[in-house]
Amino acid sequence: MPKVLLTGAGGQIATAIALYFPEAHIPTISLNRKQLDICSQEQLNKTFDSTDFDIVINCAAFTDTEIAEVNPSEAEYSNVHGIQLLANQCRKYNKFLIHISTNCIFSGTKDSPYTEDDAAMPLSVYGSTKYKSEEIIRKTLKDYIIFRTCWNFSEFEGHNFVLKILRRGIADKHLRIVDDQFGCPTSAHSVARALAELCDRIKKSNDIRGTYHFCSSEAVSWYEYSKEIFKLAKELGIAEVSITRAKTGEVPTNLKRPANGVLSTEKIASLGLSLPNWRNDLAHVMQKIKTQKTF
Ligand SMILES: NC(=O)c1ccc[n+]([C@@H]2O[C@H](COP(=O)([O-])OP(=O)(O)OC[C@H]3O[C@@H](n4cnc5c(N)ncnc54)[C@H](OP(=O)(O)O)[C@@H]3O)[C@@H](O)[C@H]2O)c1
Repeated sequence: MPKVLLTGAGGQIATAIALYFPEAHIPTISLNRKQLDICSQEQLNKTFDSTDFDIVINCAAFTDTEIAEVNPSEAEYSNVHGIQLLANQCRKYNKFLIHISTNCIFSGTKDSPYTEDDAAMPLSVYGSTKYKSEEIIRKTLKDYIIFRTCWNFSEFEGHNFVLKILRRGIADKHLRIVDDQFGCPTSAHSVARALAELCDRIKKSNDIRGTYHFCSSEAVSWYEYSKEIFKLAKELGIAEVSITRAKTGEVPTNLKRPANGVLSTEKIASLGLSLPNWRNDLAHVMQKIKTQKTF
């Protein structure tokens, strides 16, 4: 198995990877922002000189989409400047880079799922910086995977819709949620399993390169997704929260999100990777949230 260096290890997806990779017998060194800031050339040099690994999985990113709208330079710093430094470093040291990206690079106007070859047209600052990060990697490296996913959830802190909406629901008791924006909720645990599979394949084949989409197989609106979260929250005795439907524009936000954020997963499925069922995964995660009292 290849050895992995995991960046952004304080976040949601990296936490799931750090938990699962030892089970998959993938030696993994996990570094949080304090241990490795990808914007620090000095820290990158130190890490790449002193650490034995084959693949970098980059989970380091500025992910606060709403703050990015009002403070774009903060998002640009990690998502563009940091990625350029990291990609340069991977080229210099001949390391494979797996970079996590997002459905927010698409405009959402297409009437079918977005494929890896569809043109990007981000609506938000976050989406725009993530698309720039992809372009940097394509220009700088040959040995890379850009792994686009969406609507990730888990029991872990970080950029996690389930914990965010649960906490907001517990505070407000009633929420209005948009029913005209669609995506595929995808657990961070299933992302970790897919990445473990790809790490194994990378070692065995030179053909596993480029951009891949990975998400669950069922698309829903934010409203349908939230309905399932609060149905489980009620069953588990976490909270009773009522939700009603709203349309884009009726709920105040400074953020534009794609109406159609659904990713086509045919390419990754053709490698033999299975796609997760988000409803089953959500039920497991909600149970953990209840047990660990992280709501
Ligand atoms: N969550 C989703 O729904 C979703 C969907 C699609 C794609 N993604 C992508 O998946 C990746 C991981 O996201 P996530 O959900 O795990 O987000 P997250 O929970 O916000 O984790 C991101 C981590 O990156 C760290 N970070 C930020 N700037 C850094 C830097 N310069 N150097 C090192 N670390 C830095 C953050 O640390 P601080 O908190 O200390 O800043 C945080 O721990 C990101 O690339 C994101 O764009 C996420």
